[in-house]
Amino acid sequence: MQALILAGGKGTRLRPLTIHTPKPVVPIVNRPFLNYQIDLLKRANVKDITLSLSYQPGKIEEIFSDGQDYGVRIHYAVEASPLGTGGAYKNAEKHLSETAIVFNGDVLTDMDLAKIVAFHKERKAAATVVLVPVEDVSAYGVVETDSEGRVQRFVEKPKPGETKANTINAGCYILEPHILNYVPAGETYSFEYQIFPSILKAGEPFYSYVWNDYWLDIGKPQSYLQANFDLINDRVQSHPVYRHGLPPFSGTGEAPKTDHVSVIDPSCTLKPGVEIINSVIGPNCIIEEKAKIENSVIWAASRIGKEAMIRNSVIGKSGIIGKNSVIDGVILGDKSSLTDYTIA
Ligand code: GDD
Ligand code: MG
Repeated sequence: MQALILAGGKGTRLRPLTIHTPKPVVPIVNRPFLNYQIDLLKRANVKDITLSLSYQPGKIEEIFSDGQDYGVRIHYAVEASPLGTGGAYKNAEKHLSETAIVFNGDVLTDMDLAKIVAFHKERKAAATVVLVPVEDVSAYGVVETDSEGRVQRFVEKPKPGETKANTINAGCYILEPHILNYVPAGETYSFEYQIFPSILKAGEPFYSYVWNDYWLDIGKPQSYLQANFDLINDRVQSHPVYRHGLPPFSGTGEAPKTDHVSVIDPSCTLKPGVEIINSVIGPNCIIEEKAKIENSVIWAASRIGKEAMIRNSVIGKSGIIGKNSVIDGVILGDKSSLTDYTIA
């Protein structure tokens, strides 16, 4: 078994967070996101993984290198300019000689890949697509199936009334290597609009597997926050979170307080009277006296001023939030600086 992770998108919907950090490696509970997908693949004993990159590939290669530190073997297929999901698959052809799991590189899930691959093999499928039920299908690719789970139709980003189905493409496919023959080399191509319809037209055995447990596309600010909260609240079964408790406090005054779910990197400095609720704080942050952080994610090396109040927000790397600021529902890119008493 091999795996390909499509990780070359620009992450436009996650801007400004993705200006300096490509979406596949945005920190989720202080770990670059792709770690979660690599863990999931390892659990299914898939250790031959290709990362398909285009946007800021160097930053991703620097983190994962040849995969040795992660207990897997990682190859890279880099596009000079983005070729779309299908073109990216073709561009990785030389690394794909066996049955492959293809993953969108922005999906957080606890799906049981070994079970899904077994389902694919039992049915002697040429392709299997994992589906998840959602309430609002408009931002996804809807997949219509028959009662036996055979795929009938794909409707990418449907308009209202275009389909009645509520099962969407979860961004995970099991594909036999000959599926590569449906894709022209060196061209921009799409799984959703082109490869899947071609497989259907050819009458190949094309199945779906419905995953009813955890699944989330992390590609929008709200879902980025949600992914962090779901992990720290243990809502993602197969991804346990490592909590360090509070960093050591040796000062005088009221000791910092936190709930039992927040994750605070041990390298942070928390001053007296600080309160942290349902949040994630990255390495080397300094949280000044009586600042309060709730339902938020703070990236590395940020400084939160005295008595500042931060709610429902993401602060990018090396952010500076002035004292007594009150911010709610704000997404700040790296190196943002807010003056004292900001209200946002
Ligand atoms: N290498 C490479 N090159 N990767 C790409 C390219 C490209 O040109 N374009 C997109 N990707 C990667 C993105 O980085 C992402 O991980 C994945 O392909 C999917 O792209 P998105 O831009 O996030 O697509 P989407 O979320 O709108 O829709 C897709 O995912 C939905 C599930 O989250 C579709 O596959 C839908 O059908 C699906 O329901
Ligand atoms: Mg997406």
